[in-house]
Amino acid sequence: MLDVHFWENRYITQNTGWDLAGPSPHFVELIKTPPGFLKPGSMAVLGAGGGHDAALFGQNGFQVTGFDYASSAVQEAQQRYGQWADFQQMDIFTLGQPDSPFAHRFDYVLEHTCFCAILPNQRPDYLKTVTGLLKPEGHLIGIFWEHEEPDGPPFSSTLHEINTLFSHGFDIISVEERQPASNRRGIERLMVLRRKKEL
Ligand SMILES: C[S@@+](CC[C@H](N)C(=O)[O-])C[C@H]1O[C@@H](n2cnc3c(N)ncnc32)[C@H](O)[C@@H]1O
Repeated sequence: MLDVHFWENRYITQNTGWDLAGPSPHFVELIKTPPGFLKPGSMAVLGAGGGHDAALFGQNGFQVTGFDYASSAVQEAQQRYGQWADFQQMDIFTLGQPDSPFAHRFDYVLEHTCFCAILPNQRPDYLKTVTGLLKPEGHLIGIFWEHEEPDGPPFSSTLHEINTLFSHGFDIISVEERQPASNRRGIERLMVLRRKKEL
């Protein structure tokens, strides 16, 4: 079953093939030549894992909170990068609910291999989570992964699927196809989406 025990076990047994041992090169590039909208602000990182992406943005002036429900990942990220970001052990699907202390607190949500780690039937809840975390006109910055394998994790997502999911409540600001980081197959899309002011 794809649940917290599955992911915790992957960390305990050090079976973490997705971990790049550093931030995604696509985010590193984005930070070097930031588009106009990318000013330091509050950022939530979903499924933050080892914390490398959270640390990158923290080191560049953002106030970052990384969320993950695997305690080993959170502890390691906090130990290694606690100077640059805060890490919280939480289920991302609780974060955007109206009574959550994190609701509408963030200028940015960052996505990297969390969307592909959840079951495809959880994607509507993922949309609710991102919508619930962002301030009006806040941005989702994400790397979305399309590959040929029928199953997962990682679960593939096409551009059409992403566009359709986020068509309610978001404007697509940019889509860039990139060579996948490391030895991943398929393509990665670096996407920026802006939450509409009025929903
Ligand atoms: C493939 S790993 C990616 C980790 C990190 N983003 C990276 O790129 O190295 C997926 C992460 O999402 C976390 N995750 C999956 N479902 C989650 C949920 N519902 N709530 C919180 N974290 C979740 C897992 O614990 C795992 O750390």
